[in-house]
Amino acid sequence: MGTEKQGGQTAGASKIAPATGKLGVMVVGLGAVATTFIAGVEAVRRGLAKPIGSMTQMGTIRLGKRTDNNTPRVKDFVPLADLKDVVFTGWDIFEDNVYESAAHAKVLDEKLLDQLKPYLETIKPLPAVFDQYYVKRLHGTHVKKGKNKRDLVNQLRADIQAFKKTVDRVVVIWCASTEIYIKATDVHQSIEAFEKGLDNDDIAIAPSQLYAYAALSEGVPFANGAPNLTVDFPAMVELSKRNAAPICGRDFKTGQTMMKTVLAPAFKARLLGVSGWFSTNILGNRDGEVLDDPESFKTKEESKLGSLDYIFQPELYPDLYKDLYHKIRINYYPPRGDDKEAWDNIDIFGWLGYPMQIKVNFLCRDSILAAPIALDLVLFLDLAKRTPELRSLGVQEWLSFYLKSPQTAEGLYPEHDLFIQSMKLKNTLRHIMGAELITHLGLEYYD
Ligand SMILES: NC(=O)c1ccc[n+]([C@@H]2O[C@H](COP(=O)([O-])OP(=O)(O)OC[C@H]3O[C@@H](n4cnc5c(N)ncnc54)[C@H](O)[C@@H]3O)[C@@H](O)[C@H]2O)c1
Repeated sequence: MGTEKQGGQTAGASKIAPATGKLGVMVVGLGAVATTFIAGVEAVRRGLAKPIGSMTQMGTIRLGKRTDNNTPRVKDFVPLADLKDVVFTGWDIFEDNVYESAAHAKVLDEKLLDQLKPYLETIKPLPAVFDQYYVKRLHGTHVKKGKNKRDLVNQLRADIQAFKKTVDRVVVIWCASTEIYIKATDVHQSIEAFEKGLDNDDIAIAPSQLYAYAALSEGVPFANGAPNLTVDFPAMVELSKRNAAPICGRDFKTGQTMMKTVLAPAFKARLLGVSGWFSTNILGNRDGEVLDDPESFKTKEESKLGSLDYIFQPELYPDLYKDLYHKIRINYYPPRGDDKEAWDNIDIFGWLGYPMQIKVNFLCRDSILAAPIALDLVLFLDLAKRTPELRSLGVQEWLSFYLKSPQTAEGLYPEHDLFIQSMKLKNTLRHIMGAELITHLGLEYYD
């Protein structure tokens, strides 16, 4: 229980290292999401636009009782890196700088990009670790060569070490393409087995795992915006704990799945049954092209499918959800570019089993939704790294809020409900700051 100080800071704050100096953000894959994230941060820094969608920049957190009227901004409550202290670099398989890549992605309009051009042009990708076996639709040209996977990890570590010399702290975030579907094998079960796999070029070790392994080996937190198997297996969890380098789940929860994890908890709370949920999408950016490959689509499909089963708990509610038919489609449709259109048809049933239907048609902008999530993950992972109580936990379950596939301790089922996730996130912030948790019990108002 913390005692309140001015500005919402509490006694617990003293244990967290301050966010002084530069925060270096290394982005793997400088495509649509990454360039929208980087250009957006610069636009906000210059006062050209607002960081809409970002909890770290615009969110507030209630402290104490509803009658206390104490609701500081999240960024005034926890010590987060200031945007002016964020420095970007990254890797890509193409040589385009961030301006060129953003222009190619066509998410942000030319007028804004032109204003940011002198800055964006300075961010040029380092050569990537890439193998077409894992992303069939891309042919990379700006790629590292190494004698085996261990050698490639060492080259990535050298990149991180060089960047570390120019900043005070580093976070790595994967915003690169979705890799083919890979299941965890023996090689993923321990650090020892994984290291052997690096020497033997084990096929189950994809490039994303090499980046993650390099980051965690350097004690650097790692976020995974794509659905690949990258950090969620025992070897990475072990390394993350050993080197106090926080990790958290996979796949930014942006459009359709975000809506799913809002609607499904509502049906369940009201005990409405669901017999079918058909979700389809059209998408025309490079991500859509990569997902047009069945092997990359399988990775995405698995990630998108998980949420409903966990939310509905059909084993507890067989009459309502046992026979749910859940189908997901993503169709590559170039004319729409980054402007995704998603349709959901939900067949529900109510009192005495009478059927009803709900249609959701979400015309979204994929990267506009993903960019603030990338920002929040980076800033919160940096906070976790500076927080003694969090940094050696490995998995930061409180960041599930941002991810389609939350990561949890072994044997623990993940929470997908967006509002449970939001409460978990804010209570974690209250907890590390020594503030009282909010349970929403509220009986004290009626004493
Ligand atoms: N936008 C969203 O709403 C959203 C939501 C969830 C997940 N994602 C995921 O985020 C990722 C990025 O999406 P995007 O729209 O920016 O895609 P994109 O195709 O525009 O960008 C991906 C970039 O990664 C690069 N790349 C591929 N493999 C690489 C490697 N091994 N090393 C370095 N760079 C590599 C590509 O050259 C490309 O520039 C995708 O995996 C996508 O599935 C996006």
